[in-house]
Amino acid sequence: MDKNSELIQRREASQLGGGQARIDKQHQQGKLTARERVTLLLDEGSFNEIGQFVEHRATTFGLDKQQFPGDGVVTGFGTVHGRLVYVFSQDFTVLGGSLSETHAAKICRIMDLAMQNGAPVIGLNDSGGARIQEGVVSLAGYADIFFRNTRASGVIPQLSVIMGPCAGGAVYSPALTDFIFMVEETSYMFVTGPNVVKTVTHEEIDSEALGGAKTHAEKSGVNHFTAANDVECLKKVRDILTYMPQNANELAPQLSNYTFNPLKLKSIQSIVPDNPNVPYDIRKVIDCVIDDESFREVHEEFAKNIVVGFARIEGRTVGVVANQPAALAGVLDIDSSRKGARFVRFCDAFNIPLLVFEDVPGFLPGTDQEWRGIITHGAKLLYAFSEATVPRVTVITRKAYGGAFDVMNSKSIGADMNYAWPTSEIAVMGAKGAAEIIFKREIAAAEDQEAKWKEKEAEYAELFANPYRAAERGIIDDVILPEETRSRVVAAFAMLEKKAEVLPKKKHGNIPL
Ligand code: HXC
Repeated sequence: MDKNSELIQRREASQLGGGQARIDKQHQQGKLTARERVTLLLDEGSFNEIGQFVEHRATTFGLDKQQFPGDGVVTGFGTVHGRLVYVFSQDFTVLGGSLSETHAAKICRIMDLAMQNGAPVIGLNDSGGARIQEGVVSLAGYADIFFRNTRASGVIPQLSVIMGPCAGGAVYSPALTDFIFMVEETSYMFVTGPNVVKTVTHEEIDSEALGGAKTHAEKSGVNHFTAANDVECLKKVRDILTYMPQNANELAPQLSNYTFNPLKLKSIQSIVPDNPNVPYDIRKVIDCVIDDESFREVHEEFAKNIVVGFARIEGRTVGVVANQPAALAGVLDIDSSRKGARFVRFCDAFNIPLLVFEDVPGFLPGTDQEWRGIITHGAKLLYAFSEATVPRVTVITRKAYGGAFDVMNSKSIGADMNYAWPTSEIAVMGAKGAAEIIFKREIAAAEDQEAKWKEKEAEYAELFANPYRAAERGIIDDVILPEETRSRVVAAFAMLEKKAEVLPKKKHGNIPL
């Protein structure tokens, strides 16, 4: 055989991973192979593989007779919408995609290249975990990856796509990255699987219910984006990448072909109901302000009382954070504070300006929240906003009460512009509760206590259930009509384009984790 033919033959062997039978099994389970996934993720013909012929060096438990070129992970670089990315894709057909010393080294190599060259890393995870036959070197391989994930955090975007098993300590690499995507029915993540759970806690549960895409999207918040299948999932990854810069020293790309339908400005006026106790969907407000069809909600199914996601304003990426009056009246609680804080920090790390819509009645009361630490968790959101140096604009649509007003990107914690709609109520608390406290004696002494209470409530509401006391003090910058929101937000972000704020010199802050 001539030398070129040998190379071609070796390449073909590597392309086959664990062999046709295992590829067929993968397909029967509704999963694509590692290579098919890379092909769909990247621009056509852009993939450059690295380490195609790497083999493990283990000899125990018969591993010396089980060699597969590439050792169960396809690694390399390519482009998504013309921009450089690094990718690794675990091959479940090779020893269950299990992570060996060399498999880990291949992943580390592309992570190092990504850091040196300032481009995102996308990990496609489909693995039975540590290669059991290799023992501790495999664990060290995981630790090598965790270390790099942490060092790369805030320097380059890191996306984890879970397309099969991801269990045990292996879950901590995705957990250290910025966003997790999961495929319904075929992917799961857990620290300990159903068998261990049954032994320890006597709970009977299957993998899907314990750690499937839906569970992590709704209950734990570990999963940011859910997809019905591999193809849809990879499309989502490609799309979300268009909202991000390549690294922390760059800006996200600006689209020139954005559209904005001016008819939306008409419908924005009627979204907030006259009765302040009637809910509405804040996503309708968001849609009326941003470029058409540009909203990409993150964590859609988790902590629905806050809405976060990427959007575009005149083609530029912004991060939107909004209280959602349609869920729990938009209160802040533990989960919504964690969700908001994590998103704010991603945006700030990657130079994405923040646009906040505020309609918040306060923090959620109760023993459950207090005993689980709403004080610490609520402080996360406060810290994240206070620390952010990107351009920050707030629009108050209705309620802005109490400590939650301060937390939601108020000017006093560094927001650049605060606007309020005429429907805004900016006060320490709602009029009913306020009247009960400050007019307690008067109400108690009155013949008709109910009538007195109502009278005092109206008095307090008259004074504070509007944006003008705050505007008089300069606590907000202007009161604007809903239909003016888009143009005012556009102007504010344009004005803030060159904002440069430097934090006090420190090693790092101590966010209330
Ligand atoms: C070596 C493995 C493997 C592993 C699977 N395989 N997991 N080989 N190390 N961790 C191999 C199988 O032997 C099999 O080889 C092939 O992959 C496919 O596995 P199946 O069991 O046939 O597939 P399936 O029925 O789909 O089940 C998938 C699975 C199961 C649920 C993931 O394989 C499984 O439970 N694997 C072990 C999981 C585990 O305990 N891993 C270690 C966790 S500890 P053949 O030759 O038959 O195709 C850990 C610590 C990390 O990961 C710590 C980091 C800090």
